[in-house]
Amino acid sequence: MKKITIAIDGHSSTGKSTLAKDLAKALAYSYVDTGAMYRAVALYCLNNGVITDEHIDANKVVAVLDEIKLDFKYNPNKNSSEIFLNGTNVEDQIRTMRISNIVSKVSSISEVRKKMVTQQQEMGKNKAVVMDGRDIGTVVFPDAELKIYMTAQPDIRAQRRLDELRSKGNTDVTFDEVLANLEKRDKEDQERLDSPLLKANDAKEVDNSNISREEQFDLILGMAKQIIKD
Ligand code: DC
Repeated sequence: MKKITIAIDGHSSTGKSTLAKDLAKALAYSYVDTGAMYRAVALYCLNNGVITDEHIDANKVVAVLDEIKLDFKYNPNKNSSEIFLNGTNVEDQIRTMRISNIVSKVSSISEVRKKMVTQQQEMGKNKAVVMDGRDIGTVVFPDAELKIYMTAQPDIRAQRRLDELRSKGNTDVTFDEVLANLEKRDKEDQERLDSPLLKANDAKEVDNSNISREEQFDLILGMAKQIIKD
């Protein structure tokens, strides 16, 4: 059967990872969460005093890039892959508001992007992959057979994100804080000079404000199957 590349881009907290994981499982493809890679770089820099919550010096980040090794390993208990930073599983540590507040700035550094994109292209070189991020259909895999651009109303996204954070024990976070963070990240991701978030010309836009996870999954799996059988 024909193997394809599926690129899923879009705004923050639109459920890209959930959709990508569901698709990868249904098609027996691998899944790569590229946002996790940028988050892990931010975590390394924060933990090692390279950056602070308030200040990011791009030159200092670039100087430590070679110290950062990222791998994904499949966790059969969770039925998904998890990110390892220099051999340590940091899947939970990268999902905090603290990291969310600095990650867009770290990801706007061109050298950081160059290193991540090279690794992403290597991971997807044999196709049969679902990759989600902000520049997958435009930069990482511009020839991807299926490109999806996801969006949803900001307040709906904020509520979904808040529910997710709370379910993981982050009880001190508020709706307004989450909403402000995702609006700020959208702005930074769309306005950065190097590979900003934008819809590829050949991407299908999906606004999931009013459709369920299942409806969205059926719709996009249908698109993928159509391409695979052609
Ligand atoms: O998907 P996420 O929210 O975990 O991504 C975290 C940040 O990483 C996001 O605000 C922008 C950046 N990012 C990026 O610049 N390019 C990607 N391909 C994926 C994420």
